[in-house]
Amino acid sequence: MALVTSTEMFKKAYDGGYAIGAFNVNNMEIVQAITEAAAELKSPVILQASAGARKYANSIYLVKLVEAAVELHPELPIVLHLDHGADFATCKDCVDNGFTSVMIDYSSHSFEENIAESKKVADYAHEHGVVVEAELGTLAGVEDDVKVADDKAMYTDPDQVEEFVKRTGVDSLAIAIGTSHGAYKFKPGTNPKLRLDILAEVAKRLPGFPIVLHGSSSVPQEYVKIINEHGGALKDAIGIPEDQLREAAKGAVCKINIDSDLRLGLTAGVRKHFVEHPDHFDPRQYLTDGRSNVKDIVAHKIVDVLGSNNKI
Ligand code: G3H
Ligand code: 13P
Ligand code: ZN
Repeated sequence: MALVTSTEMFKKAYDGGYAIGAFNVNNMEIVQAITEAAAELKSPVILQASAGARKYANSIYLVKLVEAAVELHPELPIVLHLDHGADFATCKDCVDNGFTSVMIDYSSHSFEENIAESKKVADYAHEHGVVVEAELGTLAGVEDDVKVADDKAMYTDPDQVEEFVKRTGVDSLAIAIGTSHGAYKFKPGTNPKLRLDILAEVAKRLPGFPIVLHGSSSVPQEYVKIINEHGGALKDAIGIPEDQLREAAKGAVCKINIDSDLRLGLTAGVRKHFVEHPDHFDPRQYLTDGRSNVKDIVAHKIVDVLGSNNKI
């Protein structure tokens, strides 16, 4: 199977009450870990590359790595998605160079500017058979190079979603309901709670339309502990409770973005390896442990959070 768009995946996910995992990829080991877990569990999957990933690895390497995964797992539906495309030019570059899905993230601009840029991307992408995600509302934390202060984090206004989708023609919509990027999503002692009521209201206004959640890492404490016990210093790293994500996946949420959890898994594997084998200096040795953790984490997400296993 060649790379696919998310159209069919989202329709099945919406109707089936589950979500597709969108995992960030930055190098070969991460691509391998995600696609091996997805293939073993018969789960469709989205591999997404941010601006930072494209800068780090070079977009051509990422496209070719994902194409290699497609060749190795011919039965597995894989989407190659641009994460947080900053503008039309970035999205166009990905549409023209092998991506099957792009995100235009103009959420920090005005409503009208967001509509204009998102429509421009949707028109161009659709002419080329590529699907488009846009965002309405702003997440706290770090969105690539854009830092949004906590107090500026804005929930999506359900009153705006119908008009936005109608005027832009986008295929899916990322909304802000209390998730945020990175490993430090909540202050210690607070009760992490997603605004599932806003999600329900959005779903009412856009029946059958796929909703996306960014910033959905749960920051598994077992990996934070391994990192801290092996020379790391991650203080008060707190993520989204997995049961709330599972609840969201049962409804209109068809795509759930996870990056930080994979970073934690990889880092935990490498740190532990170095402490246990101070004489090792072959990257294949320590990256094997990092990659294995990433695979375990993706498998856990697919089965226990997304519910996307056995859907191929
Ligand atoms: O949305 C943020 C993703 O985790 C990508 O992060 O810009 O560091 O690659 P990055
Ligand atoms: P996390 O930082 O919660 O993994 O979010 C990733 C993300 O939203 C990528 O777009
Ligand atoms: Zn994001």
